[in-house]
Amino acid sequence: MKTPIHILGIETSCDETAAAVVRRNADGSGKILSSIVFSQLEEHAAFGGVVPEIAARAHVEKLDGLIEEALHGSQMRLSQMDAIAATSGPGLIGGLIVGLMTGKALATATGKPLYAINHLEGHALTARLTDDVAFPYLLLLVSGGHTQMVLVRGVNDYQRWGTTIDDALGEAFDKTAKLLGLTYPGGPAVEIAARDGDPRRFNLPRPLRGEKRLDFSFSGLKTAVRQTAQAIAPLDDRDVCDICASFQLAITNTLKERVGRSLQRFNAEEGAPAPKLVVAGGVAANQQIRSALVELCGEHNFELVAPPMELCTDNAVMIAWAGAERMAIDLPPDGLDVAPRPRWPLDSSSASIIGHGKRGAKA
Ligand code: KG4
Ligand code: ZN
Repeated sequence: MKTPIHILGIETSCDETAAAVVRRNADGSGKILSSIVFSQLEEHAAFGGVVPEIAARAHVEKLDGLIEEALHGSQMRLSQMDAIAATSGPGLIGGLIVGLMTGKALATATGKPLYAINHLEGHALTARLTDDVAFPYLLLLVSGGHTQMVLVRGVNDYQRWGTTIDDALGEAFDKTAKLLGLTYPGGPAVEIAARDGDPRRFNLPRPLRGEKRLDFSFSGLKTAVRQTAQAIAPLDDRDVCDICASFQLAITNTLKERVGRSLQRFNAEEGAPAPKLVVAGGVAANQQIRSALVELCGEHNFELVAPPMELCTDNAVMIAWAGAERMAIDLPPDGLDVAPRPRWPLDSSSASIIGHGKRGAKA
């Protein structure tokens, strides 16, 4: 592909409604021409988690306006787009239907090709837009719905090395916060409370520690938090802070051990001259986790690449960019019969994990 590609991206897989216009230049560099994200946080906060029906309705109400805003912001017209890219999985079915149907309608009306994008591919390729990262690299995705370690070998060429066998990491933060009476989303609330706590007061488990497999597990830790809280109830502020600090330390140590194994494997098998670990997902905002990853990367000679937070969490730039990357290497667009896929592993060869993605919602 010798000329720049302009793509309109649409993201509706969970609780963010988003539209963006992105350009991919012939040399592989990219530029964000506009990015609009409407977070439905307030609509779901009272329920302590994402309510699928509310999410779907909010997508319906917001999406058209957001697309108009994104086009306006990019100073381009729909007719100037080379393709439309819409998330078609994994995620909540109601939202996926809204976004994908809208993408199909725009593609039909304009005669432009449609790319039905895997949301995880969006997360996986963002670092190439922001930091020009070359293949192969490792991706650690830590969000409210996914906790995965993925080897990114190329566009459309992914190998999942590890995933959670139960809760996602963000989900563990959210459930812990709920249990302790903190606000939703739980991650930021737990992080703030942990700053004033004693991380050594409670000795919480480090799940899967020492196991050779590269998977993650957090539900045992969550149960331990509940038992700890019940044992000393009623909790005062100090107790809550101490539990949060102990929980965050257990998570940080667990991540270091689990992720460290993947870095070792990458160094042994891939032999890339300047190995890189890319992080994505809302949990990447956590400062203690961030510092631990920086330290770990230092130990294994890796560089940690963390795209700006607004591109680490859900957005439509990453969907447009994934479409552009696919188009640039002439991968075929999708037909109008393409269906939304609530479950859609990035790596079709990886075994599905029982219990993983129970909530089936966020990535
Ligand atoms: O990627 P994201 O914005 O949305 C999806 O999951 O799709 O991630 C949200 C998750 C929530 O579970 C939230 O509690 C967690 O990221 N999170 C954090 C922090 N900020 C957000 N977890 C730990 N520490 C934080 N500072
Ligand atoms: Zn996501």
